Amino acid sequence: MVIPQHVAIILDGNGRWAKSMGRPRNYGHVRGAKNLEIICEDAYNMGIKYLTVYLFSTENWKRSKDEVDALMRLFRRYTKTCIKTARDNNMKVRVLGDPRALDEDLQKSLRDLVESSKDNTGLNFQIAINYGSRDEIVRAVRRVAQDCAEGKLQPEEITEDCFSGYLDTAGVPDPDLLIRTSGELRLSNYLMWQLAYTEFYFTEVPWPAFTKDDLWKAIEKYNGRERRYGGVREE
Ligand code: IPE
Ligand code: IPE
Ligand code: MG
Repeated sequence: MVIPQHVAIILDGNGRWAKSMGRPRNYGHVRGAKNLEIICEDAYNMGIKYLTVYLFSTENWKRSKDEVDALMRLFRRYTKTCIKTARDNNMKVRVLGDPRALDEDLQKSLRDLVESSKDNTGLNFQIAINYGSRDEIVRAVRRVAQDCAEGKLQPEEITEDCFSGYLDTAGVPDPDLLIRTSGELRLSNYLMWQLAYTEFYFTEVPWPAFTKDDLWKAIEKYNGRERRYGGVREE
């Protein structure tokens, strides 16, 4: 079995899962965050080197204030716990997205998380929070334009590789496999540049119920695919 080097996940369906249990949406988010810790360990034990998860999109601010507040409280707790799990499990954490819209204390915890885990050599774990692919590309273009204006970069030096280095994912290889849980067949503004040649796997299973076995199913499916351009397949 070929294990994809980089798996990206759109963790969707927390709300619907909670509803099906007769519980409030926020309960789904809490269980979803717990499940993420479990799947992180499972992914690493399976041999996955990079895991990138979508926690909060630039569009998610449009949800009710109650839900956004509850999510931000959860991220605060999750980030603190993650500092410990990153240490215990040797995980290197990176944050994708624009942190400036987040409260200062959460920004600080995220900086602490990245800083304290930067020398770890186990799973490379990317969390996308206040992330939108269009926003990421626009922020990158601004920095490119700035560097050109300052004479640090010539327009003809802008190549795909050079541009990739301006994205939040600089230095992270493109995903080999994208998984979206809970049945929706769309990207919702996730990693549009990086997913150009990624294999997609959609499952009806909602995120809080997604297990190691479901991850295996996705990897089995990935193994049955004929990949083009995106990565090297070893036999
Ligand atoms: C995913 O679950 C988590 C976030 C987007 C924060 P949802 O909250 O989107 O759950 P559904 O899709 O409404 O069921
Ligand atoms: C995508 O899920 C964003 C995250 C998982 C964080 P959404 O549930 O927000 O996406 P849409 O609104 O269904 O496209
Ligand atoms: Mg959703």
